Amino acid sequence: MALLEIENLTVEFETATGWFKAVDGVSLSVEPREVLAIVGESGSGKSVSMLAVMGLLPDTAKITADTMLFQGTDIQQMSAAERRKLIGKDMAMIFQEPVASLNPCFTVGFQIEEVLRIHMGLGRKERRQRAIELFELVGLPDPAERLGHFPHQMSGGQCQRVMIAIAIACDPKLLIADEPTTALDVTIQKQILDLLMTLQAETGMGLIMITHDMGVVAETADRVIVQYKGRKMEEADVLSLFEAPKNAYTKALLSALPENATGNRLSTVSDFMAQESAGGVQ
Ligand SMILES: Nc1ncnc2c1ncn2[C@@H]1O[C@H](COP(=O)(O)OP(=O)(O)O)[C@@H](O)[C@H]1O
Ligand SMILES: [Mg+2]
Repeated sequence: MALLEIENLTVEFETATGWFKAVDGVSLSVEPREVLAIVGESGSGKSVSMLAVMGLLPDTAKITADTMLFQGTDIQQMSAAERRKLIGKDMAMIFQEPVASLNPCFTVGFQIEEVLRIHMGLGRKERRQRAIELFELVGLPDPAERLGHFPHQMSGGQCQRVMIAIAIACDPKLLIADEPTTALDVTIQKQILDLLMTLQAETGMGLIMITHDMGVVAETADRVIVQYKGRKMEEADVLSLFEAPKNAYTKALLSALPENATGNRLSTVSDFMAQESAGGVQ
């Protein structure tokens, strides 16, 4: 059974000039142990589609889908309470801005222990022990001491490790990583990706890796969905996508990779966009 199965997901927001479709009929599925990458330029509806699945969009968003199943259970039919139980436990998400995603007012230890208390019902001693183990697992030095630190006392990379520890604290079956390395220094990006891939392999969780970077896709994905302006442009296993991309937008993203660069990234993708608005892309 698929971990997640979405058919024909549409998300609309009301704007001053009418309804705007941020996600337009996207279908996707993730199998257990699978890494699915969703790739596309900024604004293509990657975050919004996953926030819709997580139930984290504001009430102003109009969400429709023909199918939205998590392990065969209809998410759309769940009560708010059932959904809260699912989120953060079986289905967890980490975000692009690790520092902003943590609460500045509480120690990181308190924040991870709260998750362990609420979702796992652990007592004080067990939570602390488990928090230390998790910090160790994500490669934070001096994990016991680290529990007493506030987010501002840590680097972006360390905060992202804390976020990852919180996300995996309840052994999720599916982890959604939304541009988890975009806000980090280049040298740290690889470490965080490696950490995510190691954890994914060890735990066997499914992973949705959201990125704008084909380099990240190449390093992580089994299967890839290319999204543009809220629509799925192409879906393929990672080798087929890199060897024989079918869609013009996929080709534009690929030609922006350093090893394929003929111009710079922005020119190739904006060439595509100019061509598309002139009606030249099928
Ligand atoms: N709460 C919101 N209200 C109105 N429009 C939104 C909201 N959230 C996102 N959008 C719009 O939806 C589109 C897709 O956004 P997003 O999913 O964040 O893109 P991506 O993650 O691919 O960069 C963007 O045009 C964005 O401005
Ligand atoms: Mg985004």
